[in-house]
Amino acid sequence: MVVDVLYLIAAVCFIFALKGLSSPQSASHGNYCGIAGIVLACVATYISVGISGAFHTLNTLIAIAIGGGIGACIATRVSMTDLPQMVAGFHSLVGLAAVFVAFSTCFAPELFEIVGLGGVFQSSLVEMGLGSAIGAVTFSGSIIAFLKLDGLYKGNNVPVFINAFLLSSIICLLTYFVTTECTSAFIILTLLAFIFGATLIAPIGGADMPVIVSMLNSYSGWATSGIGFTLHNDLLIITGAIVGSSGAILSYIMCKGMNRSLLDVISGGGQSNSSNKSDNQSEVSRAYKNGSAEDAAFILKNASSVIIVPGYGMATSQAQHALKEMGDIMQKEGVKVRYAIHPVAGRMPGHMNVLLAEASVPYEDVCELDEINRDFASCDVAYVVGANDVTNPAAKHDCSSSIYGMPILEVGKAKTVLFLKRSMGAGYAGVDNELFYAQNTMMLLGDAKKTTEDIIKAL
Ligand code: TAP
Repeated sequence: MVVDVLYLIAAVCFIFALKGLSSPQSASHGNYCGIAGIVLACVATYISVGISGAFHTLNTLIAIAIGGGIGACIATRVSMTDLPQMVAGFHSLVGLAAVFVAFSTCFAPELFEIVGLGGVFQSSLVEMGLGSAIGAVTFSGSIIAFLKLDGLYKGNNVPVFINAFLLSSIICLLTYFVTTECTSAFIILTLLAFIFGATLIAPIGGADMPVIVSMLNSYSGWATSGIGFTLHNDLLIITGAIVGSSGAILSYIMCKGMNRSLLDVISGGGQSNSSNKSDNQSEVSRAYKNGSAEDAAFILKNASSVIIVPGYGMATSQAQHALKEMGDIMQKEGVKVRYAIHPVAGRMPGHMNVLLAEASVPYEDVCELDEINRDFASCDVAYVVGANDVTNPAAKHDCSSSIYGMPILEVGKAKTVLFLKRSMGAGYAGVDNELFYAQNTMMLLGDAKKTTEDIIKAL
């Protein structure tokens, strides 16, 4: 009874943690809720298992201290830009834990009270088999995602038939295991699932990894939930379902923000389009206005409202601190300065928010696409820092474009658009941006941080 109540409170803590993490202002409270939930869950598990004796207690405490110590060490040392790798690395452990639990239940089912008169319950065999397969896919897939995000592995093309063969073999072995309780089938299906995780993720482009990481997160949640049914553990079922559904929803939101289907991302399609790239080359010869830092400073000095639009280029040039300094200078002069964030700007969810928070940009100055889009029409300057696709009008009117349908930040409606980037090249989607050649656009070619620092000097 006490355990059930503690599990319930822990589950509520996790729900509040997710709620808190949905906004930068409440994110730290969300984290504390999550920590409280985990502590309660550990205490409740400890009580429910009824571990007795000093030796077991010591073992458990040492394990918690080692795991917690490693986690704390990694979390405090990791840089903001390395967060996606860290998340991928941690997910791999969740997958591995699911495999270990499934193996324990498979080889000692009587300890888990899942044996009836006719052998192990069929529902438990299904949960075990699925939990182990999904856990194994999550483990190896997350390791590949980690290596790709860290730039240690570039990826390989894997013929579709290999993945189709692996998947169908896993399904056949799972069916065989459930009907015969054959442990060899269980072991082989797990091994194949490890391989399948790697071959599934290896061909996917590095920039799609955030969607993949969130999808793997979702898998690890479902694997945990499945294991929760086997162990009759309500907390695992609830937590797994929360993780599984939130990961799936996040993947969906990212795909929607990019106007791509999850299937398209998984198959590695739609990242760049050769016809768009050749369009882009022909566009390079078109006339455009090239400005200097002094020109930009003059325009900014005379503006009364400026919207800064950060994109992936801000992250690569690490221009956020310079931007904050420039924003502060203008705000002191009475200029209204705000930051517009596109849901898929950069390469991971919240990428821009994290970097701006790192530079201590006040949350109230940071606006989401929906709340700021109509303000571009009345603002003097849109200061676009290494953002490209998220501003590209082709998404609105060119139905042949790979980004068609993606909502964009309407920077073109500002009186003047200052584009900071190094070349006239296209963004991640490979689609030329007609705004570079517009009458009200001035290109500031060069590294975004360096250009912004030069503008600060000129200001
Ligand atoms: P992009 O369209 O990739 O544009 C970034 C621009 O930054 C490039 O055109 C590049 O131009 C410029 N740049 C790079 N380094 C720079 C530097 N040091 N200084 C100045 N400029 C620099 O980025 P975006 O507008 O943020 O759009 C994000 C894209 O990623 C979208 O297509 C989105 O669908 C995709 N995506 C996003 C996510 C998430 S969750 N955020 C996940 C997967 C995919 P130069 O090379 O000419 O400098």
